[in-house]
Amino acid sequence: MSQPQIKLYYKNVTSRVIGSEHGITDEQLKALAEKTSPLIHQLNKEKDTGQTPYRDLPYNTKTVQQVKEIAAELKGRCENLVVLGIGGSALGNIALQTALNPYMYNLDDTQRPGPRLFVFDNIDPVQLASFLDWVGDKLDKTIFNVISKSGRTAETASQFMIIRQLLLGKLGPAGFQSQIITTTDPKQGTLRKIAADSALRCLEVPIGVGGRFSVLSAVGLFSAAMCGIDIDSLLAGARDMDIRVSCEDFYKNPAAINAAINHHFYNRGKKISVMMPYSYALKDLADWYRQLWAESLGKAKDLTGNEVHIGPTPVKALGTTDQHSQLQLYRQGPNDKLFTFMQVNNFQRDLKVGPAPDCAPELGFLANVDLSTLLNSEKKATEYALLTDSRPCLTVVFDRVNAYTVGQFIYLYEVTTSFAAALFGINTYDQPAVELVKEATFAIMGRTGYEELARQIQTLTEVDGDFLV
Ligand code: PA5
Repeated sequence: MSQPQIKLYYKNVTSRVIGSEHGITDEQLKALAEKTSPLIHQLNKEKDTGQTPYRDLPYNTKTVQQVKEIAAELKGRCENLVVLGIGGSALGNIALQTALNPYMYNLDDTQRPGPRLFVFDNIDPVQLASFLDWVGDKLDKTIFNVISKSGRTAETASQFMIIRQLLLGKLGPAGFQSQIITTTDPKQGTLRKIAADSALRCLEVPIGVGGRFSVLSAVGLFSAAMCGIDIDSLLAGARDMDIRVSCEDFYKNPAAINAAINHHFYNRGKKISVMMPYSYALKDLADWYRQLWAESLGKAKDLTGNEVHIGPTPVKALGTTDQHSQLQLYRQGPNDKLFTFMQVNNFQRDLKVGPAPDCAPELGFLANVDLSTLLNSEKKATEYALLTDSRPCLTVVFDRVNAYTVGQFIYLYEVTTSFAAALFGINTYDQPAVELVKEATFAIMGRTGYEELARQIQTLTEVDGDFLV
């Protein structure tokens, strides 16, 4: 672990800072340690016995090799890479791209070591049609990475079918084969079947790895590698974090402490969890976290089958933008939130503010200041405002944003999620509500075998004109 590690700063959730009504007292922290410590051992055991396959992803050299080989082969003939996927099959890709490639990546050839990247994680026809107009005849220079673990998701399947028709029509079967890379379950599912039938190239989502835990598999690694992201460092960061989150000393284990604090505040009425990066690059990692947290922890039943309807509501905010949008509520509205800031100590680039105009000497305090200094000062200002109204604040501190620290963050939050689920006593890895909506979509769209569900949906959702004003 020679590189700077990301750190979790938690003093500002304690009673020393925000008082004993809202803050965690020393006794409470001790109780959290006692409750959580056995779970560290339990999670380590689950990892060692292969029950949490997402934890093996940082060590999967075979996938890295395969991803690199395909990326090397395609790079020369690929101007545009299009990811078709949704949820866990897209959010990690977007997060890696925003975090690790320049803001102008798609627009400026000189800032781009790979193809332009477009991720379609929606089925808005206006959006996709606009892209298809733009891509026009450049289909032979465009690679489509279709990602669906289950292969049954209507959004991804429909996008794929549009692109398939287009490619077959314009480039023929050989073109269809050469421009598509599928990423799906190694053995089963509709996409696997199609890939086999059409001899499409296939990357794997390992068995037992759910979408929201899959960014460090081929799901996230392929588009990252294509776009010049250092996937070796990404995985090295995750591996080094694995050592830290396996540590059986609660006070040295950032995932255990993070989960315990989140669980504590949820049980004390702070049911909303706000993730607020002070770095544009990190904003989509907050989006990725939102899905990870919501789908993993929002559950109707606990592990013994009791109805619990549990789960913190994750909210994404961006500093400083949301100081001018959400902060008024955050400070003076209900004290029902735990805040997690993401702070960067050293930005990759910096800009100096120019001199104040002569007619506005009151702006002199900004003259010659580094923009990063102002950004971090505003984080401090926001934290101050929240703390003085007894709002608990955590901070994840990045020495700098790079593939290594982003890999650390991803792994830290995945394992934090596993700890939080163990504390809540729920199954982290299922998502029955998501599956219900997938099936309801099948039913509404007339898929064979879903007739009874279609009838139930029709009865419940038929529009009653009496209520239309
Ligand atoms: O995390 C999850 O399991 C989900 O969000 C899925 O990623 C999402 O529903 C897409 O599923 P699939 O990859 O099977 O198309």
